[in-house]
Amino acid sequence: MHDLNPAVAEALLREWTASESLIKHGLAVACCTESYGAREAQRLGLTGEEAARFVALYRCAGLLHDFDYERHPTPAEHPFVGVAYLRERGWPEEMLHAILAHADYSGVKPESHLDRALFACDELAGFLTACALVKPSRAIADVEAAGVRKKMKDKAFARAVKREDMTLGAELLGLPVEDHIANCLSAMQHHAAELGL
Ligand SMILES: [Fe+2]
Repeated sequence: MHDLNPAVAEALLREWTASESLIKHGLAVACCTESYGAREAQRLGLTGEEAARFVALYRCAGLLHDFDYERHPTPAEHPFVGVAYLRERGWPEEMLHAILAHADYSGVKPESHLDRALFACDELAGFLTACALVKPSRAIADVEAAGVRKKMKDKAFARAVKREDMTLGAELLGLPVEDHIANCLSAMQHHAAELGL
């Protein structure tokens, strides 16, 4: 069984990525997916080792979903090259499925809860980072959920972030978009130091 060590996943992300903002994106998505892993583990009644492994799976998926992006940015290669590399090293198929499914052009659809969580956190983590960076403090602590909703409606703000992916993500998780925003915001606020936000 693969040991699913988040420290190893983070080292791999850093080894393949020079861009500090892409590393931070991986860390931001990871803290959001990790928080959904913890909720789901609790819902499933997992405890001890089993719960820890389950949460680590969610964190590793967040850390590694874009780890090949800098070296292989084209839709022909990302995330396929990275997934092949991880598969050779024995990372679990459920994580690889989620990484494939986060790319809407991959032909792999989000199915499992992990798939849906990764898809839902990817776009939103980027948007929340953008919301923090326009604050005078540049701090995620100063971002409020209501302000995020307002910025979602402002088409000129963070144009590259697809609003429909943010709402679809919440839908996939069976949550109102407000709750999804609140969950990810609080996860990122807890990890503000690590995210440099
Ligand atoms: Fe991403």
